[in-house]
Formats: sequence, structure tokens, C-alpha cells
Amino acid sequence: MDFLACVCLLHLLFLATSRVAAQASSPARALDAMLQDHAYRAFVHPHTGIVYNATVPANLTGVALSAVRLRSGSLRRKGFSDYFDFTVPTGIVVQPYVERVVLVYHNIGNWSDHYYPLPGYTYLSPVLGLLLYDAANLSAVGLQELSFVASGSPISINFSDVRSVPAGGPAPRCVWFDLDGVPQFRDLEASNVCSTYRRGHFSIVVNSSAIPPGPVPSGNITPPIPTPTGRSKGSSKGWKIAVGVVGGVIALVLLASLVVCLARYKRDKKLELMEQNAETGETLRMAQVGRSQAPVALGTRTQPVIESEYVA
Ligand SMILES: *[C@@H]1O[C@H](CO)[C@@H](O)[C@H](O)[C@H]1NC(C)=O
Ligand SMILES: *[C@@H]1O[C@H](CO)[C@@H](O)[C@H](O)[C@H]1NC(C)=O
Ligand SMILES: *[C@@H]1O[C@H](CO)[C@@H](O)[C@H](O)[C@H]1NC(C)=O
Ligand SMILES: *[C@@H]1O[C@H](CO)[C@@H](O)[C@H](O)[C@H]1NC(C)=O
Ligand SMILES: *[C@@H]1O[C@H](CO)[C@@H](O)[C@H](O)[C@H]1NC(C)=O
Ligand SMILES: *[C@@H]1O[C@H](CO)[C@@H](O)[C@H](O)[C@H]1NC(C)=O
Repeated sequence: MDFLACVCLLHLLFLATSRVAAQASSPARALDAMLQDHAYRAFVHPHTGIVYNATVPANLTGVALSAVRLRSGSLRRKGFSDYFDFTVPTGIVVQPYVERVVLVYHNIGNWSDHYYPLPGYTYLSPVLGLLLYDAANLSAVGLQELSFVASGSPISINFSDVRSVPAGGPAPRCVWFDLDGVPQFRDLEASNVCSTYRRGHFSIVVNSSAIPPGPVPSGNITPPIPTPTGRSKGSSKGWKIAVGVVGGVIALVLLASLVVCLARYKRDKKLELMEQNAETGETLRMAQVGRSQAPVALGTRTQPVIESEYVA
């Protein structure tokens, strides 16, 4: 039982660390951080409730980014409709509560395959993101996203830019990526409409087999080829080193606890075995007494350990 507990603990630790590592190191999360920074720069003298379009770095041309500052209370009471393809209903609860929030819109455009690769599927729409941040400091960088949940009706996403697929093939589906980047699939609410109760990135996809081969439209089918050139050298290297160091330390700790666990398990098992032997030894001896010391009793049990012990 002790051993099982150990295994469970280790399993959990592994899960936790792999999730953290995935979050910290994925290009999509680095993009989220960069877009948060650029979205906040669009707020020069911001008016609450006005949508500001932000500019993105030249190497991200094709990505659209906008932000709006809102009071949490107003977001909850009034919602925020027509935020590009998103319709945010009333009843949005911000977690943890802050007084003012920034609702950030991403349209990852032709970078969708690059940042949200999804083997076996083809995007029919650009990946759209809806993230929420604390508005307390509009100069802040590296902000953590806030959670929110639609406590009434869900947020609906009416995708305006959707490619059609030939009829008769597999049905298009909604895909949702939370911050951990794990895709989750849902059925469409209506043609081109998906819904969500939470933050994240969204799109409509179809099994790639539904797309007839031939001239590749807008480069969407080709899987992303990681190009070592176009990426940020310094920061991504820094990230990798940091993640590597943290990962190494965690791995060492895990290894050490595994060794300790195994040693403890072995010792416990040994103790258990000794106790068991002692017990069976006792019953044997009693049986022996019952049969008035007849040596035949030994032969009826085929337990070599006990036998030799008894003989010795
Ligand atoms: C913001 O960008 C969208 C397209 O992403 C455009 O339709 C809209 O007119 C822009 N708004 C302003 C104020 O520039
Ligand atoms: C997306 O399109 C822009 C031009 O609109 C281009 O500069 C950029 O390289 C494209 N990105 C990808 C990943 O193809
Ligand atoms: C796509 O469809 C093909 C054939 O219908 C199937 O073998 C494959 O598993 C599907 N892929 C996914 C990712 O669902
Ligand atoms: C806002 O964030 C910036 C950048 O992180 C920091 O330098 C500044 O001190 C912060 N301001 C406040 C009032 O916290
Ligand atoms: C989605 O948008 C289209 C037009 O862009 C509109 O005709 C349709 O009613 C909308 N659907 C929903 C569920 O809002
Ligand atoms: C774009 O350039 C910035 C520096 O200006 C860099 O941090 C970022 O990683 C680059 N992104 C891509 C996709 O090349």
C-alpha cells in the first residue's frame, strides 16, 4: 500500500511537471506573452469599453491583435457582444476577482498551423484566442492570464472566415486549446458557430482526409516545418536553458524519491515476508505439538524454507 502511494505520487509529480514544462516552453505560450505585451502597448490613454487594435511585430505579420479594458462588474452584468467573432454573454465570472480586466483577442491567421499544429486535421478557420488579464498595471509584461467562466449561457464564437469542405466527408468540428495546448474537440453549435465557457484558443477543423489532395490552398495543409532561423535566438535559448535546469532538478528529485520508495518497499516487503514466515512457522510448530512430535508432519508441508529452518 505504501508502495502504491509512492507510485501514485510519482505519477502525479510527472504529470504536474510535464504540464508546467509544456506551458512554459511551448511556442504558443511564448506567443501569448508577446501578444499580451503588444496588446497593452495599444492602451495609450485608454477608454473603458473601447476596442483598441494593437500592432504586432513585423515577423508576426498576419496575426491580428486587439484589446479592450473593462470593469469586471460590467463584464458580468452586461457581457461584451460583437467582440470580433466572439459574443460574450452576461454572467462572466473572473477568477481570481480583480476590479478591471483586459479582454484580449487574437487572430493567429496564417500562423495557426505554426503555433497550434494539429496532425491529421486541417484548419478551416484561423485560430482565434480570447484571453483575460488584470488591468491594474497597463505597463506590465509577462502577466499571468486570469481564468473566467461563463456562469450562464456560453460564449459563442461565430467564425466569419471559414473555408468550406466538400459535402459527404467527415463533419467539421470545433477545437479548443486551453493554455496547456491540449486540443479538445466539440461539435459545432450551428454552421460556423462554436461555444465555450472558458478562455483559450478556438478554431474549426476537419479530418485532413476530407480535403482532396491537389493544389494546396493557402498553405494550410502542409505541416509546419520548424525553422531554426526565423525564431528568437536569445529568449528561446534562455527559456530552453531555464526549462532544462528546472527539469533536470525535478528529474533528480523524482529519481531520488523513486530510489527511496523502492528501498522502503523492499524493506517493508522483507519485513512482511519475515512476519509471514514467523507466523507459518508458529502454526507449523503448533501442528507439530498436536501430532505429538511425529516427524511426519514436516513432510506434509512442502515449504523448503521452513523445513530447512526447522532442521537447522
Ligand atoms: C481593428 O481591426 C479590425 C480587423 O482586425 C478592423 O475591422 C477594425 O476596423 C479595426 N479597428 C480600428 C479602430 O482600426
Ligand atoms: C503570413 O503572411 C504574411 C504576409 O501576409 C507573411 O509575411 C508571413 O510569413 C506568413 N506566415 C506564415 C507562417 O506563412
Ligand atoms: C481521419 O479519417 C481517416 C479515414 O476516415 C481515419 O483513418 C483517421 O483516423 C482520421 N483521423 C483523425 C485524426 O481522426
Ligand atoms: C507595472 O509594471 C512595470 C513592468 O513590469 C513595472 O516596472 C512597474 O513598476 C509596475 N507599476 C506598478 C504601479 O506596479
Ligand atoms: C453568425 O454570423 C452570420 C453572419 O456573419 C449570421 O448570419 C448568423 O446568424 C450568426 N450566427 C449566430 C449563431 O450568431
Ligand atoms: C519576432 O521578433 C521578436 C523580437 O523582435 C522575437 O522575440 C520573436 O521571437 C520573433 N518571433 C518570431 C515568430 O520570429
